[in-house]
Amino acid sequence: MKKKFVTTAIAYANGNPHLGHAYEFVLSDTISRFHKTWLKQDTFFLTGMDEHGQKIFEKAKSENIDVKDFISKYAEIFKNLDQKLSVNYDRFIRTTDKDHYEVCKKLWMKMFETGDLYQKEYIGLYCVGCEGFKTEKDLDENGECPDHLKKPIELKEKNWFFKLSKYENFLKEKIESGKLKIIPEFRKNEMLEFIKNGLQDVSFSRSKELMNWGIPVPNDDTQVMYVWADALTNYITGAKVFSENENDQKNFQEFWQDGETLHVIGKDILRFHSLYWPAMLYSACLEIPKEILVHGFITSQGQKMSKSLGNVVLPDEILDLYKKMGEEKSILGENFSSEVFRYFFLKNINSHDDGDFTFERMKELYNADLANGLGNLVNRVVKLSEKYLEVKTDFPRIDLEKDFPDFAKSMKDYDVMNTMNFIWKIINSCDEYMQKNEPFKVIKVDIEAGKKHLEFLREQVYTAARLLNAFMPTTSETVKKIIKENKMPEKPLFPRYE
Ligand code: MSP
Repeated sequence: MKKKFVTTAIAYANGNPHLGHAYEFVLSDTISRFHKTWLKQDTFFLTGMDEHGQKIFEKAKSENIDVKDFISKYAEIFKNLDQKLSVNYDRFIRTTDKDHYEVCKKLWMKMFETGDLYQKEYIGLYCVGCEGFKTEKDLDENGECPDHLKKPIELKEKNWFFKLSKYENFLKEKIESGKLKIIPEFRKNEMLEFIKNGLQDVSFSRSKELMNWGIPVPNDDTQVMYVWADALTNYITGAKVFSENENDQKNFQEFWQDGETLHVIGKDILRFHSLYWPAMLYSACLEIPKEILVHGFITSQGQKMSKSLGNVVLPDEILDLYKKMGEEKSILGENFSSEVFRYFFLKNINSHDDGDFTFERMKELYNADLANGLGNLVNRVVKLSEKYLEVKTDFPRIDLEKDFPDFAKSMKDYDVMNTMNFIWKIINSCDEYMQKNEPFKVIKVDIEAGKKHLEFLREQVYTAARLLNAFMPTTSETVKKIIKENKMPEKPLFPRYE
């Protein structure tokens, strides 16, 4: 079986994590866990920080902090968030890591040797927020970047350029044919439209005199690498490219060259991932990624989160709100908030589109699906089975593809929300079964018939818990344990949120 290599975008180390980051981490972690546990695939999950570039440099300067201390502070904050969200990565890469510098330099030289890097005077516009070069067409009617609502700065410097234009047909063919699969389909079409207008070469370095916070260009000591050239390369650093070590070479071959590579990113950075990145790799005679999953943006109260609208919600605000409730009232204890967070974002946000968050909606859905849904079901079933059933520890094995083909397919298509709905179908059908068959009444008049109903329900709940493992890992383990031990826990799983 091929190996799987799953990545998140690496976050800019210039501010606290927002909901978009948290969502991307949880989404990618779930996909990675699914491949590890259900498909038994050897899977490597990479995440980390993007630590160079003008944006970070300027922010550190404005706060009067040494840039190295500044980025280290954010690396800790992001790692901490991963831990709070039960995000189980295999490596947390930082673009200031030593091995990454070496890989960037080697990749640069390969592109140079292919003849794809050349020097030219760059005169044009640069949006520091995007860390991207802009044309007039990219700006709104006020001449501002539509994502950052700021006028780009004018740059005039001698830089190294990457021959992206040379790869127009190559990229078109790879995207069209699905050899580079962009999910969902409408994002693929967006990129094909973009290519139709023609691809321009990209400035791939910055003059040290004007901006020196970056990886030095190996064949020109007046320049540092453009931050996106450096950032994208993190993926192959994580996959152990260009290593002398035999084990690393084997890993690189299996995870990257022959593996099933998947980048999970937000919609604003698709061009970098579907155009620049495969072209860079091809130029260096390396395999291009196999799949890019593009998620939408998390909005708040139906609008883009922005400080001026006062609707920014931080992941910690949500986690803190549920933390106290969990520690006091739930058997899940300190894992409660992460489980509720994961539940909300995975089951209620369509990973292929934008999705909205409000505290009210989260509370409503928590009460409906977790307190009244799963939590109440476990409670009712175990209360009865504890009294009437002997402990039975073995449940039938699940062959996912055979027993739950729709579930398996949906998850393989990375449609996480839809996949979670299958689990809630099981939970809801158990509720209906209880209502229809009333085992709590039957058991008093016909013990054997009552027991059959209970055994069926217990098995169904156990199955639902198993299927939950990639999405809500602690809930999954806890429910399985409760059912196996056939004993009511001291506290409920999901107390009602009043
Ligand atoms: N550093 C670059 C990525 C380099 S990857 C080689 C970057 N960083 S970021 O911190 O701005 O964004 C990190 C991820 O969060 C990106 O995938 C981005 O699309 C995603 N999101 C940013 N805002 C978001 C929302 N409001 N909602 C969902 N995801 C969002 O871009």
